[in-house]
Amino acid sequence: MTVTARPADTRRSVGSVTRVDGPLVEIRGLDGVSMSELLHLGPHDLLAEVVSLTGSSVSAQAYEYTGGLRPGDPVVRLDHPLSARLGPGLLGGVFDGLLRPLDDAGTWLEPGQQEAGGDPSRMWEWTPDVVRGSRVTDGDVLGHVIEGSLEHRVMVPVGVSGSVTDVRAAGSVNGADKVARVDGVPVGLGHWWPVRRPRPAAERREAAVPLQTGQRVVDVLFPLARGSSAAVPGGFGTGKTMLLQQIAKWCDADVIVYVGCGERGNEMADVLDDLRSIVDPRTGGRLMDRTVIVANTSNMPMMAREASIYAAVTVAEYYRDMGYDAVVIADSTSRWAEALREFASRTGALPAEEGYPASLASALAAFYERAGRVRTLGGADGSVTIIGAVSPQGGDLTEPVTAHTERFVRTLWTLDRDLAYARHYPAVSWVGSFSRDADVLAAWHAGRGDSGWARQRARVVSLLGSADRLAELAELMGVGALPGHERMVLLGGRLVREGLLQQSALSAVDAWCGPERSAALLTATLDVLDACQAAVARGIPAASVEEVDFTPVLRAREEAAGEGDESRHAIARARDLVLAEVEALG
Ligand SMILES: Nc1ncnc2c1ncn2[C@@H]1O[C@H](COP(=O)(O)OP(=O)(O)OP(=O)(O)O)[C@@H](O)[C@H]1O
Ligand SMILES: [Mg+2]
Repeated sequence: MTVTARPADTRRSVGSVTRVDGPLVEIRGLDGVSMSELLHLGPHDLLAEVVSLTGSSVSAQAYEYTGGLRPGDPVVRLDHPLSARLGPGLLGGVFDGLLRPLDDAGTWLEPGQQEAGGDPSRMWEWTPDVVRGSRVTDGDVLGHVIEGSLEHRVMVPVGVSGSVTDVRAAGSVNGADKVARVDGVPVGLGHWWPVRRPRPAAERREAAVPLQTGQRVVDVLFPLARGSSAAVPGGFGTGKTMLLQQIAKWCDADVIVYVGCGERGNEMADVLDDLRSIVDPRTGGRLMDRTVIVANTSNMPMMAREASIYAAVTVAEYYRDMGYDAVVIADSTSRWAEALREFASRTGALPAEEGYPASLASALAAFYERAGRVRTLGGADGSVTIIGAVSPQGGDLTEPVTAHTERFVRTLWTLDRDLAYARHYPAVSWVGSFSRDADVLAAWHAGRGDSGWARQRARVVSLLGSADRLAELAELMGVGALPGHERMVLLGGRLVREGLLQQSALSAVDAWCGPERSAALLTATLDVLDACQAAVARGIPAASVEEVDFTPVLRAREEAAGEGDESRHAIARARDLVLAEVEALG
């Protein structure tokens, strides 16, 4: 299991608290302590991290409420930085910002509660994949246990290599058992990793394979590659949480790490309920079995938010290193940045933009840079994709967190307030969003014989832009002033927006849309538009074409769920109905 407590209790060097200001605690008498070391404060062992050293005075950031802590209270060095214990038992679990197990997303631990090691008695079925005498280097797989629907690979720890001097035979083991010995070093099912340090990989590779999110506006217009990064800026209530939860449920990754960072506790409880009840369409297992929840909701101590992001990425990197595609979903990075701001203001740091510390940009960069597709130390292909919500005050997209985030992510899905008001969901703006992965993904599709993907995408992008421009003209001059083919562009814009881009998270049929159904809907929409343009070109008045009942193609997305023939045929039938009406015009 997984905790940030101490790898070994090497208590020494007792100092004492001199000043407490919310999460900022000043200490003296900690000779030889280093930056980022963990401390235990006071009689309840509150967890804190060293953030500055000036002369004999040490400042620490406490991760728990400091109520009750006072000058003179003892401080103990833990001799290691903030670390997560990685091992089987993470999947399906709910943890706090310091990766301590919680009963549920709504609960939180009492200050100082050091739930160490989760449930060490939990048993796992171990299967060795090496024999005694095998030569191994760090990252190589020694054996595995089954965790949920995943093969959880036990790897040679970073920095260790040599020959396997001992390996346990197949059978039941618990979280504390050793399963192998490499060059004399005992290896258990789990190990500790300092969360602020990225886990090493053999090499970074180009992110060039799509992550299918199941949300059409993303997969068709602003696609994301495995190992890439995305941000979702949007004003209050525009649908950030809904979009992220949909992606957490339906994207085709192996592991999802969902961080609820300063958001409402009931939203976390809802997503948990959903994940527990929904069956993964690909594996047949529960979605929760591939999900790790890090809950640091608005009622929990603020500074643990700061750590929660790094803990989550570390967990994702750990599964990446086993050769899996992991996705980190953080809602919301703005609440995380607020924790940085709150702390900076207490330390008296000179504020930069809007009270945020000058280090805001580098902190955001360091977070998103941990996304990537890699060749792992063990030689496998794995990835970490990062998706973060940004909730700017008053929807102001020029504020510092949004502005810096835009520079560091490869894909941006900006939520538009007007679309959300009009109940066009997901309210992803086609004007204010981008995907820097689109070209490389076009090449991926082309490499699989599908050069139509890029062509259709380009067509939809240009159609939406032209339709917006013409709608403005039509508003000024009346639609009757536009030539027939331009009126068909306006019509096409509507078909794309309503029939393709809108997708209700609440629909039993359409909440998830796989690549086949997505392609079928796109093709149907464009076929209908082509037929309308052709009709106008043959002299049929635009007004007559506009009067055709397009409902079947607009509703086709609600016709049949899932991938495969049934939904493809339903969509084709809807298209043929409309095509027949257009043909009948003459
Ligand atoms: N994809 C969607 N399908 C259907 N309804 C949606 C969708 N997205 C948003 N909504 C509607 O909008 C409401 C607000 O969405 P959500 O809570 O995701 O917004 P938010 O941007 O996260 O809000 P906040 O700023 O409070 O965090 C939802 O309760 C739902 O009614
Ligand atoms: Mg929200």
